[in-house]
Amino acid sequence: MTDTLQRIAIVGAGIMGRGIAQTALAAGQEVALCDVSEAALDNAREAIDGGLQRLDDKGRLEAGTAEAVLARLAVTTRLADLADAPVIIEAAPESPELKEGIFRELDTVAPEAILASNTSSLSLTRLADVTGRPERVVGMHFFNPVPVMPLVEVIRARQTADHVVETVEALARALGKTPVRIGDSPGFAVNRILIPMINEAAFVVEEGVATAEAVDDAMRLGANHPIGPLALADMVGIDVVVAVMKILQDGLDEAKYQPCPLLRRLMDEGHLGRKTGRGFCEYPAEGG
Ligand code: 3HC
Repeated sequence: MTDTLQRIAIVGAGIMGRGIAQTALAAGQEVALCDVSEAALDNAREAIDGGLQRLDDKGRLEAGTAEAVLARLAVTTRLADLADAPVIIEAAPESPELKEGIFRELDTVAPEAILASNTSSLSLTRLADVTGRPERVVGMHFFNPVPVMPLVEVIRARQTADHVVETVEALARALGKTPVRIGDSPGFAVNRILIPMINEAAFVVEEGVATAEAVDDAMRLGANHPIGPLALADMVGIDVVVAVMKILQDGLDEAKYQPCPLLRRLMDEGHLGRKTGRGFCEYPAEGG
């Protein structure tokens, strides 16, 4: 158990993977971060460095100086290099085929590890089934921005062993997060509630009821949300919103969870939110 709380491995150096990596490093852990793309790893290292420096400047980095903490980050393009981590957290894009492929390979190259997925809505039970150790597969769903948001939804697949749930709950606490147990159902709890709200906000704009800015102002001022639903769509990624809606549609109710055509249009045009520099709003400095 102690070892589990000292180092982790992460697959996927996108927004979520790098956020988990930064959080684990700031908590004093050694982190191995894997991605197929060298460029994604370079970008992640730079972003993590910036995030750690900011914490250090504010006097909030207890695990050492930003340089010393960053020195505990190893990056690699080979899943086999993650083999000695007790827990591997997969944070790859939300594609069942991609995640299943990663889990199959991890099952071979890292026979001892607990395999956790940061999937935002896919079935853990199905993912566990592609491995030869379904009792050691579990969901650890983090929230964006990971360094700030305190929740980890811990999703138990039908096959997950009790000790595995307990280990990842302890890991979440070691990362400074609060674990909450949620059943293995499409969208789990938060996304099943939050993403349809974002989708509905897009319909309000699509139908000409209000502008995106008015919708966001209304929800901030009228419902006390920290940012409006469309600014949130830009933050989590419009592609992610559409992917979660499709999973809710497939798993729960065809009609109720139709992705809003406006979201699909933005996605087709490549306007995915902050990560591409444009979504409902424009973010000139962040795209690319
Ligand atoms: N990384 C690290 N720290 C960040 C950050 C980031 N990306 N963004 C903001 N912060 C920090 C700031 O440094 C600041 O820290 P400080 O108080 O120590 O100075 C603090 O957060 C507050 O930031 P700001 O004052 O700049 O802005 P806000 O007060 O608006 O807070 C926010 C930013 C916390 C992101 C807030 O807007 C918020 O809570 N938004 C909603 C987030 C949310 O709902 N997330 C869930 C998305 S759903 C999801 O992730 C699931 C997935 O599966 C789709």
